[in-house]
Formats: sequence, C-alpha cells, structure tokens
Amino acid sequence: MSKQEELEKLKAKIEKSRVCPELAASATQLVFGDGNPDAEVVFIGEAPGKNEDLQGLPFVGAAGKFLNEMLAGIGLKREDIYITNIVKYRPPNNRDPLPDEKQAFLPYLRSQLEIIKPKLVVTLGRHSMDSLLPGLQISKCHGQPKRLAGQVYLPLFHPAAALYNGGMRQTLIDDFNKIPRILAAIN
Ligand code: URA
Repeated sequence: MSKQEELEKLKAKIEKSRVCPELAASATQLVFGDGNPDAEVVFIGEAPGKNEDLQGLPFVGAAGKFLNEMLAGIGLKREDIYITNIVKYRPPNNRDPLPDEKQAFLPYLRSQLEIIKPKLVVTLGRHSMDSLLPGLQISKCHGQPKRLAGQVYLPLFHPAAALYNGGMRQTLIDDFNKIPRILAAIN
C-alpha cells in the first residue's frame, strides 16, 4: 500500500471511530491533513478554523498565507511538505481545543507520523507542542530542536499568534529560517 493509501485508510478510520462526536457534529467536515506523504518535514497546527472547516484543508486562511510566505523564504512549497493539526475538527467559535480533544486525536496524529516518517516534525503553537513534547514552555524552547524517542521536533510559535505581533513575527521568521540547517544536520 502506498503512503497516500495508508493515509486515506487512517482518515476513514477516524470518521468510522467517531472521534469527538460533538466536535464532528458542529463542524462541516474532518480536516485530516494535506501535502506530500513523502515529505521530510511535517507541520502540526492546533485545529481547523473557519476557512479550513469549509474547504476541508489545513492552513488555508491568513495564518496559512503567512506560513506559505515563510516556506517560500526557505525555498519550499506547500507540495514539498505535509501539514495537519492535532485536533481535526473545527472547535465551535474557534475556541481552544480541550485537553480531552487533543488526547482523543493524539493516537491518530501519531499514526499519521508513523506513515509519513518525516525527518523533522515542526509544532506550531503550544497545543501541538504540548501534545508531542509535554512539559515544555514555548516561550523558552521555540526555535530549538529536540530529539524525543528517535524523532526530531522543532517547536515554533503559531503563525496566527505571530501574524500581527511585530516582535513575535520576526522571532517566528528567524526560527523558521533555521529549518534547512536543522534538516541538513539530521542523518
Ligand atoms: N490554525 C491552525 O492551527 N490550523 C489551521 O489549520 C488553521 C489555522
């Protein structure tokens, strides 16, 4: 089975398993993930917003546009990477995902990563960082690669949080620009 087929099977399994049925009922659709199943880098955000919920694709709104600009800055396109969220249904009114919701989706996120086997997992914001690298503080560890159980992670600020905050925006861009060097150093 190809990685794409395995991902499609996993997506169907989430729908069949009725993960977070209340979120599923209020959302338009599952936003599973998008991009290249053979990507070296996987980006993980928080949860779909309004545009993502309507289109069924992650990071297609303002935060996604900013992310695309940062990717272009390091010579990458969306087709080169894979992108998903910890929580895969839109929380009502864009509220923060609840601990139970993150916990419910975590095994599926882990399966997604097992299928793709990226060299580097970039967490965007504290929700995806907390799920995969528990106990860290984003203000202290952003931009510093961490190795955990054989996987290299890079925690970054969330592009939506940094978009309109001058200082955080530049910090995120500077951290983002470390990705090529971090990737080259992973063997
Ligand atoms: N913010 C996220 O965390 N994920 C998306 O898909 C869009 C915005």
